[in-house]
Amino acid sequence: MAQDTAEPSTAGVPAVELGSGSQSLTTTALGYGAMSIAGAYGHIEEQAALELLHGVYDRGVTFIDTANIYGRGVSESILGRFLTGRRHEIALATKCGIVPGAEVGKRSVNGRPEHIREQIDLSLGRLGTDYVDLYYLHRPDPDVPVEESVGALAELIQAGKVRGIGLSEHTGEEIRRGHAEHPITAVQSEWSIFARDVERYVIPACAELGIGFVAFSPVGRGILTDHFDPGGLAENDVRRKFPWFAAENIAHNHDLAGRVRALAAESDLPTAGLALAWLYAKAAMFGLHLAAIPGTRYVNHLDELLAGTDAELSAEAIAVLDALADQVHGDRSFNSAWVSGGREGLLPRS
Ligand SMILES: NC(=O)c1ccc[n+]([C@@H]2O[C@H](COP(=O)([O-])OP(=O)(O)OC[C@H]3O[C@@H](n4cnc5c(N)ncnc54)[C@H](OP(=O)(O)O)[C@@H]3O)[C@@H](O)[C@H]2O)c1
Repeated sequence: MAQDTAEPSTAGVPAVELGSGSQSLTTTALGYGAMSIAGAYGHIEEQAALELLHGVYDRGVTFIDTANIYGRGVSESILGRFLTGRRHEIALATKCGIVPGAEVGKRSVNGRPEHIREQIDLSLGRLGTDYVDLYYLHRPDPDVPVEESVGALAELIQAGKVRGIGLSEHTGEEIRRGHAEHPITAVQSEWSIFARDVERYVIPACAELGIGFVAFSPVGRGILTDHFDPGGLAENDVRRKFPWFAAENIAHNHDLAGRVRALAAESDLPTAGLALAWLYAKAAMFGLHLAAIPGTRYVNHLDELLAGTDAELSAEAIAVLDALADQVHGDRSFNSAWVSGGREGLLPRS
Protein backbone atom coordinates (compact mmCIF):
# COMPACT_ATOMS: atom_id res chain seq x y z
CA MET A 1 0.00 0.00 0.00
CA ALA A 2 1.34 3.46 -0.89
CA GLN A 3 2.44 5.69 1.97
CA ASP A 4 0.31 8.66 2.99
CA THR A 5 2.99 11.30 3.28
CA ALA A 6 0.95 14.30 2.15
CA GLU A 7 -0.34 16.97 4.50
CA PRO A 8 -4.06 17.73 4.29
CA SER A 9 -4.72 20.50 1.81
CA THR A 10 -6.02 23.75 3.24
CA ALA A 11 -7.15 25.00 -0.13
CA GLY A 12 -10.91 25.12 -0.60
CA VAL A 13 -12.43 22.72 -3.10
CA PRO A 14 -14.50 24.59 -5.72
CA ALA A 15 -18.26 24.26 -5.42
CA VAL A 16 -20.77 23.26 -8.07
CA GLU A 17 -24.54 23.43 -8.29
CA LEU A 18 -26.04 20.29 -9.80
CA GLY A 19 -29.58 20.62 -11.14
CA SER A 20 -31.80 23.63 -10.72
CA GLY A 21 -34.58 25.09 -8.62
CA SER A 22 -35.82 23.11 -5.65
CA GLN A 23 -34.05 20.02 -7.02
CA SER A 24 -30.57 21.55 -7.00
CA LEU A 25 -27.68 20.22 -4.96
CA THR A 26 -24.69 22.43 -4.19
CA THR A 27 -21.59 20.42 -3.39
CA THR A 28 -17.90 20.10 -4.19
CA ALA A 29 -16.87 19.86 -7.85
CA LEU A 30 -14.51 17.07 -6.82
CA GLY A 31 -16.32 14.22 -5.13
CA TYR A 32 -15.11 10.88 -3.86
CA GLY A 33 -16.11 7.62 -5.57
CA ALA A 34 -16.61 5.07 -2.83
CA MET A 35 -16.60 2.01 -5.07
CA SER A 36 -12.91 1.87 -4.16
CA ILE A 37 -13.63 1.20 -0.47
CA ALA A 38 -15.43 -1.97 -1.54
CA GLY A 39 -12.22 -3.20 -3.18
CA ALA A 40 -13.16 -2.90 -6.86
CA TYR A 41 -9.57 -2.06 -7.81
CA GLY A 42 -7.71 -3.85 -5.04
CA HIS A 43 -8.21 -4.79 -1.44
CA ILE A 44 -8.53 -2.24 1.34
CA GLU A 45 -9.07 -3.00 5.03
CA GLU A 46 -12.11 -1.43 6.64
CA GLN A 47 -9.98 0.57 9.10
CA ALA A 48 -7.89 1.93 6.22
CA ALA A 49 -11.09 2.81 4.36
CA LEU A 50 -12.37 4.78 7.35
CA GLU A 51 -9.04 6.62 7.65
CA LEU A 52 -9.16 7.39 3.96
CA LEU A 53 -12.69 8.80 4.28
CA HIS A 54 -11.46 11.05 7.07
CA GLY A 55 -8.66 12.21 4.75
CA VAL A 56 -11.23 12.94 2.04
CA TYR A 57 -13.30 14.96 4.51
CA ASP A 58 -10.28 16.79 5.98
CA ARG A 59 -9.37 17.96 2.49
CA GLY A 60 -12.80 19.56 2.09
CA VAL A 61 -14.24 16.98 -0.34
CA THR A 62 -17.83 16.59 0.85
CA PHE A 63 -19.56 14.87 -2.09
CA ILE A 64 -19.50 11.10 -1.70
CA ASP A 65 -20.79 8.62 -4.25
CA THR A 66 -21.72 5.03 -3.57
CA ALA A 67 -24.23 2.36 -4.70
CA ASN A 68 -26.03 -0.58 -3.18
CA ILE A 69 -24.12 -2.90 -5.52
CA TYR A 70 -20.60 -1.81 -4.47
CA GLY A 71 -19.40 -4.83 -2.55
CA ARG A 72 -23.10 -5.75 -2.23
CA GLY A 73 -23.63 -3.19 0.53
CA VAL A 74 -20.07 -3.09 1.89
CA SER A 75 -19.33 0.44 0.60
CA GLU A 76 -22.59 1.79 2.04
CA SER A 77 -22.03 0.06 5.39
CA ILE A 78 -18.52 1.51 5.80
CA LEU A 79 -19.86 4.92 4.84
CA GLY A 80 -22.58 4.54 7.47
CA ARG A 81 -19.88 4.25 10.12
CA PHE A 82 -17.99 7.23 8.74
CA LEU A 83 -21.11 9.43 8.53
CA THR A 84 -21.96 9.18 12.21
CA GLY A 85 -21.92 12.73 13.59
CA ARG A 86 -21.25 14.41 10.25
CA ARG A 87 -24.15 13.29 8.06
CA HIS A 88 -25.33 16.83 7.31
CA GLU A 89 -21.89 17.99 6.21
CA ILE A 90 -21.82 15.45 3.38
CA ALA A 91 -23.73 15.42 0.09
CA LEU A 92 -24.44 11.72 -0.14
CA ALA A 93 -25.36 9.94 -3.35
CA THR A 94 -26.25 6.29 -3.78
CA LYS A 95 -27.84 4.17 -6.50
CA CYS A 96 -30.17 1.26 -7.12
CA GLY A 97 -31.14 -0.80 -10.13
CA ILE A 98 -28.19 -3.09 -10.77
CA VAL A 99 -28.88 -6.49 -9.27
CA PRO A 100 -26.43 -9.36 -8.92
CA GLY A 101 -27.34 -12.10 -11.37
CA ALA A 102 -27.61 -15.82 -10.81
CA GLU A 103 -24.09 -16.52 -12.08
CA VAL A 104 -20.90 -15.15 -10.61
CA GLY A 105 -19.99 -11.88 -12.34
CA LYS A 106 -23.37 -11.60 -14.07
CA ARG A 107 -25.61 -8.66 -13.38
CA SER A 108 -29.00 -7.46 -14.50
CA VAL A 109 -31.08 -4.33 -14.17
CA ASN A 110 -34.30 -3.67 -12.27
CA GLY A 111 -35.96 -0.26 -12.57
CA ARG A 112 -39.37 -1.32 -11.33
CA PRO A 113 -41.04 0.96 -8.78
CA GLU A 114 -41.37 -1.78 -6.15
CA HIS A 115 -37.65 -2.59 -6.45
CA ILE A 116 -36.69 1.08 -6.12
CA ARG A 117 -38.91 1.45 -3.02
CA GLU A 118 -37.39 -1.66 -1.46
CA GLN A 119 -33.78 -0.72 -2.23
CA ILE A 120 -33.88 2.82 -0.83
CA ASP A 121 -34.86 1.48 2.57
CA LEU A 122 -32.05 -1.08 2.52
CA SER A 123 -29.53 1.60 1.51
CA LEU A 124 -30.74 4.04 4.18
CA GLY A 125 -30.39 1.29 6.76
CA ARG A 126 -26.79 0.54 5.77
CA LEU A 127 -25.92 4.24 5.54
CA GLY A 128 -27.47 4.93 8.96
CA THR A 129 -29.44 7.92 7.73
CA ASP A 130 -33.03 8.77 6.85
CA TYR A 131 -32.28 10.54 3.55
CA VAL A 132 -29.82 10.71 0.68
CA ASP A 133 -29.07 13.88 -1.24
CA LEU A 134 -29.07 12.15 -4.61
CA TYR A 135 -30.58 8.79 -5.57
CA TYR A 136 -29.70 7.39 -8.97
CA LEU A 137 -31.21 4.72 -11.12
CA HIS A 138 -27.89 2.99 -11.86
CA ARG A 139 -28.92 1.79 -15.34
CA PRO A 140 -32.07 2.13 -17.44
CA ASP A 141 -34.20 -1.02 -17.32
CA PRO A 142 -35.09 -1.99 -20.92
CA ASP A 143 -38.34 -3.50 -19.63
CA VAL A 144 -39.50 -0.43 -17.69
CA PRO A 145 -40.16 2.99 -19.28
CA VAL A 146 -37.83 5.59 -17.80
CA GLU A 147 -40.90 7.66 -16.85
CA GLU A 148 -42.10 4.86 -14.57
CA SER A 149 -38.75 4.55 -12.79
CA VAL A 150 -38.42 8.33 -12.43
CA GLY A 151 -42.00 8.48 -11.12
CA ALA A 152 -41.05 6.03 -8.37
CA LEU A 153 -37.94 8.09 -7.55
CA ALA A 154 -40.12 11.23 -7.37
CA GLU A 155 -42.34 9.51 -4.79
CA LEU A 156 -39.23 9.03 -2.63
CA ILE A 157 -38.72 12.81 -2.69
CA GLN A 158 -42.28 13.24 -1.45
CA ALA A 159 -41.57 10.70 1.28
CA GLY A 160 -38.50 12.72 2.40
CA LYS A 161 -36.08 9.86 1.71
CA VAL A 162 -34.41 11.46 -1.30
CA ARG A 163 -33.53 15.11 -2.11
CA GLY A 164 -32.76 14.80 -5.82
CA ILE A 165 -33.05 12.25 -8.63
CA GLY A 166 -30.15 10.96 -10.68
CA LEU A 167 -29.86 8.82 -13.80
CA SER A 168 -26.76 6.88 -14.79
CA GLU A 169 -25.65 5.83 -18.27
CA HIS A 170 -28.99 6.89 -19.75
CA THR A 171 -29.00 8.08 -23.35
CA GLY A 172 -29.70 11.70 -24.30
CA GLU A 173 -33.22 10.70 -25.28
CA GLU A 174 -33.86 8.80 -22.03
CA ILE A 175 -32.60 11.81 -20.05
CA ARG A 176 -35.03 14.12 -21.85
CA ARG A 177 -37.95 11.75 -21.19
CA GLY A 178 -37.02 11.27 -17.55
CA HIS A 179 -36.61 15.00 -16.99
CA ALA A 180 -40.06 15.65 -18.50
CA GLU A 181 -41.53 13.30 -15.86
CA HIS A 182 -39.70 14.97 -12.95
CA PRO A 183 -36.68 17.32 -12.83
CA ILE A 184 -33.43 15.38 -12.79
CA THR A 185 -30.67 16.78 -10.56
CA ALA A 186 -27.72 14.92 -12.08
CA VAL A 187 -26.73 12.41 -14.72
CA GLN A 188 -23.75 10.21 -13.92
CA SER A 189 -21.82 8.63 -16.78
CA GLU A 190 -18.27 7.84 -17.74
CA TRP A 191 -16.35 10.82 -19.11
CA SER A 192 -12.60 11.24 -19.43
CA ILE A 193 -9.85 12.02 -21.93
CA PHE A 194 -10.19 8.40 -23.13
CA ALA A 195 -14.04 8.15 -23.09
CA ARG A 196 -15.81 10.99 -24.87
CA ASP A 197 -18.97 9.48 -26.39
CA VAL A 198 -21.21 11.32 -23.88
CA GLU A 199 -20.24 14.60 -25.53
CA ARG A 200 -22.48 13.74 -28.50
CA TYR A 201 -25.98 13.45 -26.96
CA VAL A 202 -25.82 13.12 -23.17
CA ILE A 203 -23.89 16.26 -22.27
CA PRO A 204 -25.79 18.55 -24.67
CA ALA A 205 -29.05 17.29 -23.11
CA CYS A 206 -27.75 17.98 -19.59
CA ALA A 207 -26.41 21.43 -20.48
CA GLU A 208 -29.64 22.40 -22.22
CA LEU A 209 -31.93 21.15 -19.43
CA GLY A 210 -29.83 22.48 -16.52
CA ILE A 211 -29.02 18.97 -15.26
CA GLY A 212 -25.70 18.51 -13.48
CA PHE A 213 -23.21 15.99 -14.81
CA VAL A 214 -21.21 13.66 -12.56
CA ALA A 215 -18.23 12.12 -14.33
CA PHE A 216 -17.35 8.61 -13.21
CA SER A 217 -14.05 6.89 -13.98
CA PRO A 218 -12.52 10.34 -14.71
CA VAL A 219 -8.97 8.95 -14.63
CA GLY A 220 -9.92 6.03 -16.86
CA ARG A 221 -9.89 3.47 -14.04
CA GLY A 222 -6.29 4.39 -13.27
CA ILE A 223 -4.71 4.45 -16.73
CA LEU A 224 -4.69 8.29 -16.77
CA THR A 225 -2.37 8.56 -13.75
CA ASP A 226 1.35 8.38 -13.03
CA HIS A 227 1.18 5.11 -11.15
CA PHE A 228 -0.62 2.65 -13.40
CA ASP A 229 1.22 -0.63 -13.95
CA PRO A 230 -0.15 -2.40 -17.05
CA GLY A 231 1.36 -5.69 -15.91
CA GLY A 232 0.19 -5.37 -12.33
CA LEU A 233 -3.52 -6.16 -12.48
CA ALA A 234 -4.51 -8.76 -9.88
CA GLU A 235 -6.41 -11.84 -11.04
CA ASN A 236 -9.63 -10.54 -9.47
CA ASP A 237 -9.17 -6.91 -10.63
CA VAL A 238 -12.45 -5.77 -12.18
CA ARG A 239 -10.54 -4.06 -15.04
CA ARG A 240 -9.63 -7.43 -16.56
CA LYS A 241 -13.09 -7.62 -18.12
CA PHE A 242 -12.86 -4.13 -19.71
CA PRO A 243 -11.60 -4.01 -23.35
CA TRP A 244 -9.12 -1.17 -22.71
CA PHE A 245 -7.27 -3.45 -20.31
CA ALA A 246 -7.46 -6.66 -22.39
CA ALA A 247 -4.13 -8.28 -23.30
CA GLU A 248 -4.37 -7.14 -26.94
CA ASN A 249 -5.07 -3.47 -26.05
CA ILE A 250 -3.36 -2.64 -22.79
CA ALA A 251 0.14 -1.91 -24.10
CA HIS A 252 -1.15 0.40 -26.85
CA ASN A 253 -3.48 2.23 -24.44
CA HIS A 254 -0.77 2.62 -21.82
CA ASP A 255 1.55 4.08 -24.48
CA LEU A 256 -1.23 6.44 -25.57
CA ALA A 257 -1.67 7.56 -21.96
CA GLY A 258 2.06 8.32 -22.11
CA ARG A 259 1.16 11.44 -24.09
CA VAL A 260 -1.03 12.57 -21.19
CA ARG A 261 1.80 11.82 -18.77
CA ALA A 262 4.24 13.81 -20.90
CA LEU A 263 1.92 16.80 -21.07
CA ALA A 264 1.33 16.59 -17.31
CA ALA A 265 5.08 16.61 -16.68
CA GLU A 266 5.47 19.66 -18.95
CA SER A 267 2.61 21.37 -17.10
CA ASP A 268 4.08 20.48 -13.70
CA LEU A 269 0.90 18.61 -12.79
CA PRO A 270 0.29 15.04 -11.70
CA THR A 271 -1.29 13.13 -14.59
CA ALA A 272 -4.44 12.45 -12.53
CA GLY A 273 -4.74 16.20 -11.89
CA LEU A 274 -4.32 16.98 -15.58
CA ALA A 275 -7.05 14.46 -16.44
CA LEU A 276 -9.43 16.27 -14.09
CA ALA A 277 -8.38 19.73 -15.28
CA TRP A 278 -9.26 18.64 -18.83
CA LEU A 279 -12.76 17.61 -17.65
CA TYR A 280 -13.39 20.94 -15.91
CA ALA A 281 -12.19 22.83 -18.98
CA LYS A 282 -14.43 20.80 -21.28
CA ALA A 283 -17.43 21.24 -18.98
CA ALA A 284 -16.95 25.01 -19.09
CA MET A 285 -16.94 24.86 -22.91
CA PHE A 286 -20.26 22.96 -22.87
CA GLY A 287 -21.79 25.28 -20.23
CA LEU A 288 -22.15 22.18 -18.06
CA HIS A 289 -22.21 22.00 -14.27
CA LEU A 290 -19.75 19.20 -13.50
CA ALA A 291 -18.62 17.19 -10.54
CA ALA A 292 -15.99 14.49 -11.05
CA ILE A 293 -15.92 11.53 -8.67
CA PRO A 294 -12.61 9.67 -8.91
CA GLY A 295 -12.02 6.70 -6.66
CA THR A 296 -8.83 5.90 -4.81
CA ARG A 297 -7.63 4.02 -1.75
CA TYR A 298 -4.89 6.53 -0.94
CA VAL A 299 -4.98 10.12 0.25
CA ASN A 300 -1.76 10.97 -1.57
CA HIS A 301 -3.50 9.94 -4.78
CA LEU A 302 -6.43 12.13 -3.77
CA ASP A 303 -4.03 15.06 -3.44
CA GLU A 304 -2.91 14.49 -7.03
CA LEU A 305 -6.55 14.56 -8.10
CA LEU A 306 -7.20 17.73 -6.12
CA ALA A 307 -4.38 19.44 -8.01
CA GLY A 308 -6.67 19.37 -11.04
CA THR A 309 -9.39 21.50 -9.47
CA ASP A 310 -7.53 24.79 -9.86
CA ALA A 311 -5.26 24.08 -12.83
CA GLU A 312 -5.64 26.06 -16.05
CA LEU A 313 -4.92 24.28 -19.34
CA SER A 314 -3.93 26.08 -22.53
CA ALA A 315 -6.06 25.69 -25.65
CA GLU A 316 -3.12 23.83 -27.23
CA ALA A 317 -2.96 21.34 -24.38
CA ILE A 318 -6.71 20.75 -24.56
CA ALA A 319 -6.46 20.14 -28.32
CA VAL A 320 -3.68 17.57 -27.80
CA LEU A 321 -5.78 15.74 -25.19
CA ASP A 322 -8.95 16.00 -27.30
CA ALA A 323 -7.29 14.00 -30.06
CA LEU A 324 -6.54 10.92 -27.94
CA ALA A 325 -9.96 9.30 -27.39
CA ASP A 326 -10.28 8.30 -31.05
CA GLN A 327 -6.98 6.43 -30.80
CA VAL A 328 -7.90 4.29 -27.80
CA HIS A 329 -8.13 0.57 -28.56
CA GLY A 330 -11.29 -1.16 -27.29
CA ASP A 331 -14.61 0.20 -26.02
CA ARG A 332 -15.05 1.69 -22.60
CA SER A 333 -17.46 -1.10 -21.61
CA PHE A 334 -17.41 -4.87 -21.91
CA ASN A 335 -21.04 -4.70 -23.08
CA SER A 336 -21.95 -1.75 -25.28
CA ALA A 337 -25.67 -2.09 -24.42
CA TRP A 338 -24.68 -1.42 -20.80
CA VAL A 339 -23.67 2.21 -21.47
CA SER A 340 -25.34 5.16 -23.17
CA GLY A 341 -22.86 5.44 -26.04
CA GLY A 342 -23.40 1.82 -27.00
CA ARG A 343 -27.16 2.25 -27.27
CA GLU A 344 -26.63 5.52 -29.16
CA GLY A 345 -24.48 3.75 -31.77
CA LEU A 346 -21.31 5.57 -30.71
CA LEU A 347 -19.20 2.61 -29.58
CA PRO A 348 -18.53 0.71 -32.75
CA ARG A 349 -15.32 -0.97 -31.75
CA SER A 350 -16.56 -4.02 -29.82
N1 LIG B 1 -22.52 4.94 -12.39
C1 LIG B 1 -21.72 3.96 -12.73
O1 LIG B 1 -22.12 3.04 -13.45
C2 LIG B 1 -20.31 3.92 -12.23
C3 LIG B 1 -19.36 3.06 -12.82
C4 LIG B 1 -18.05 3.09 -12.34
C5 LIG B 1 -17.72 3.95 -11.29
N2 LIG B 1 -18.67 4.74 -10.72
C6 LIG B 1 -18.37 5.67 -9.61
O2 LIG B 1 -17.28 6.49 -10.02
C7 LIG B 1 -16.20 6.36 -9.09
C8 LIG B 1 -14.89 6.51 -9.79
O3 LIG B 1 -14.78 5.63 -10.89
P1 LIG B 1 -13.71 4.48 -10.95
O4 LIG B 1 -13.23 4.19 -9.57
O5 LIG B 1 -14.29 3.40 -11.78
O6 LIG B 1 -12.56 5.10 -11.86
P2 LIG B 1 -11.40 6.19 -11.66
O7 LIG B 1 -11.72 7.10 -10.56
O8 LIG B 1 -11.16 6.73 -13.03
O9 LIG B 1 -10.15 5.27 -11.33
C9 LIG B 1 -9.97 4.61 -10.12
C10 LIG B 1 -8.62 3.94 -10.22
O10 LIG B 1 -7.64 4.95 -10.42
C11 LIG B 1 -6.63 4.83 -9.46
N3 LIG B 1 -6.20 6.18 -9.10
C12 LIG B 1 -6.95 7.24 -8.76
N4 LIG B 1 -6.18 8.32 -8.53
C13 LIG B 1 -4.92 7.92 -8.73
C14 LIG B 1 -3.67 8.57 -8.66
N5 LIG B 1 -3.57 9.84 -8.32
N6 LIG B 1 -2.57 7.85 -8.93
C15 LIG B 1 -2.67 6.56 -9.27
N7 LIG B 1 -3.81 5.88 -9.35
C16 LIG B 1 -4.94 6.56 -9.09
C17 LIG B 1 -7.21 4.09 -8.31
O11 LIG B 1 -6.21 3.33 -7.70
P3 LIG B 1 -5.70 3.56 -6.17
O12 LIG B 1 -6.76 3.03 -5.30
O13 LIG B 1 -4.42 2.80 -6.15
O14 LIG B 1 -5.50 5.05 -6.06
C18 LIG B 1 -8.22 3.16 -8.99
O15 LIG B 1 -7.58 1.99 -9.41
C19 LIG B 1 -16.44 4.99 -8.43
O16 LIG B 1 -15.82 4.92 -7.17
C20 LIG B 1 -17.93 4.97 -8.34
O17 LIG B 1 -18.37 5.73 -7.21
C21 LIG B 1 -19.96 4.76 -11.20
